[in-house]
Amino acid sequence: MSDPQPPRNSAAAKRGGNGSRFLFMFLLGLVVGAVALAYLMRTWLGGPDTYPRAVMQVMSAQMGQLKQSVARSNCNPTDTLPHLQALRTMAGQFDGAFVELRDDRRFIAHSSGLRASLDEALASPPLNCAGVTAAQQEIGQACQDCHQDFR
Ligand code: HEC
Repeated sequence: MSDPQPPRNSAAAKRGGNGSRFLFMFLLGLVVGAVALAYLMRTWLGGPDTYPRAVMQVMSAQMGQLKQSVARSNCNPTDTLPHLQALRTMAGQFDGAFVELRDDRRFIAHSSGLRASLDEALASPPLNCAGVTAAQQEIGQACQDCHQDFR
């Protein structure tokens, strides 16, 4: 008498199991989809503040590369010039990146301070690690001067 029941129960349990598993997967899909959509929207639409930070991060990475050149004693101009050039290119993009700050007199002064340090380093490229370190310190000071006022 009790024999037919267990199979029926387990079948029902199995059906219920599939149902809740389906529901779970469905909800999981919704959540994953919503998160992915939010992520893509943020990437596609971007914030107005994405670009300035990207410019800064590239400069930061290039400064890091210069530091590594010194750490590895790879201080030939062929090692370091590309980084100085990349820094100079980025420093020339501030007007487009910092739309709200570009008319501020102090911001302009700090920007040209950085560009002047870089122009100097590019005009007479450092030939050894001592020179790279000196240039790096001067450039880093120009970064800091502006960050003190605007970051
Ligand atoms: C003329 C001004 C100015 C100069 C010069 C400057 N910065 Fe910045 N920096 C800023 C401002 C403003 C922010 C904040 C940007 C934001 O959060 O939107 C910032 C933010 C940063 C950040 C954080 C980015 C992030 O993801 O939040 C880094 C890293 C950075 N700067 C590196 C540098 C380096 C390296 C240099 C020099 C080679 C430099 N900056 C020179 C104005 C400047």
